[in-house]
Amino acid sequence: MHFLNRNNPCWCGSGVKYKKCHYDFDQKLARCRLQGCIIPARNMIKTPSQIEAIRESAKVNIAVLDYVAEHIRAGVTTEEIDQWVCRQTARHHAVPAPLHYEGFPKSVCTSINEVVCHGIPSPDVVLKDGDIVNVDCSTNLNGYYSDSSRMFCIGDVSPEKKKLVEVTKECMELGLKEVKPWAFMGDMSQAVNDHARAHGYRVVRDIGGHGVGLEFHEEPWVSYVAPRGTEMILAPGMMFTIEPMINMGTEEVYVDEDDNWTVYTEDGKPSAQWEIQVLVTEDGCEVISY
Ligand code: MF3
Ligand code: CO
Repeated sequence: MHFLNRNNPCWCGSGVKYKKCHYDFDQKLARCRLQGCIIPARNMIKTPSQIEAIRESAKVNIAVLDYVAEHIRAGVTTEEIDQWVCRQTARHHAVPAPLHYEGFPKSVCTSINEVVCHGIPSPDVVLKDGDIVNVDCSTNLNGYYSDSSRMFCIGDVSPEKKKLVEVTKECMELGLKEVKPWAFMGDMSQAVNDHARAHGYRVVRDIGGHGVGLEFHEEPWVSYVAPRGTEMILAPGMMFTIEPMINMGTEEVYVDEDDNWTVYTEDGKPSAQWEIQVLVTEDGCEVISY
């Protein structure tokens, strides 16, 4: 039998004695597990120094998205957006995380109208008046990862599509409000799903969010349709994305057979997505990247 002595240094690397650091935390999680809850593994709990390094990565990610926001307009190709992201990320001595990730060929995802996510930038795709587009940026700085995305309305967008973009942002914000220690991941998911459905929209079920920070995609997988009181217990130090994909029509999606990346809505109706990276803290949460 091996006990972690309460007077030994804590497993988190703080240098503080276990009993003064994560001891109560571990006790609390153990009680949650006895009650049948899903609890995070230790490697999902970020240490203060890791959090600091991830914040630095996120500063770059936010700056890159700010640059996109300033320059995006009708007439720009998604290839140009890719070049902006590539250059701006490099200017900050970081690397775009999507590039060559599981074979992804570009530095950013650009998903227009009925494209749900993972759109591949191309010189043939020109942004036009009335488009809604998601630009999804992810940064690797010194091996630490950040990930967030924003929607942009190009020129004169129809009221229906504008509303989809706005409600999707509200879904993300309402989900965020549920993120606090010892709540359930499902509390966040249901807040997202309820708001989308109240507007007649459907939340994509087949693609979720993810833990992030030490890897681009970590555990846990994050659903936006799970019910309140289900899924993983949220513990301080966990970091994950809130990135619901909300469809104007059916929630069904399919992947492009030729490029194996681009995800479309089954019915061809528009889809929107906003993504933030959030840290669970002792007294609530902190938005790390947006
Ligand atoms: N940035 C996307 C996300 O939010 C992941 C894209 S995978 C890639 O999780 F390879 F396409 F970059
Ligand atoms: Co993500």
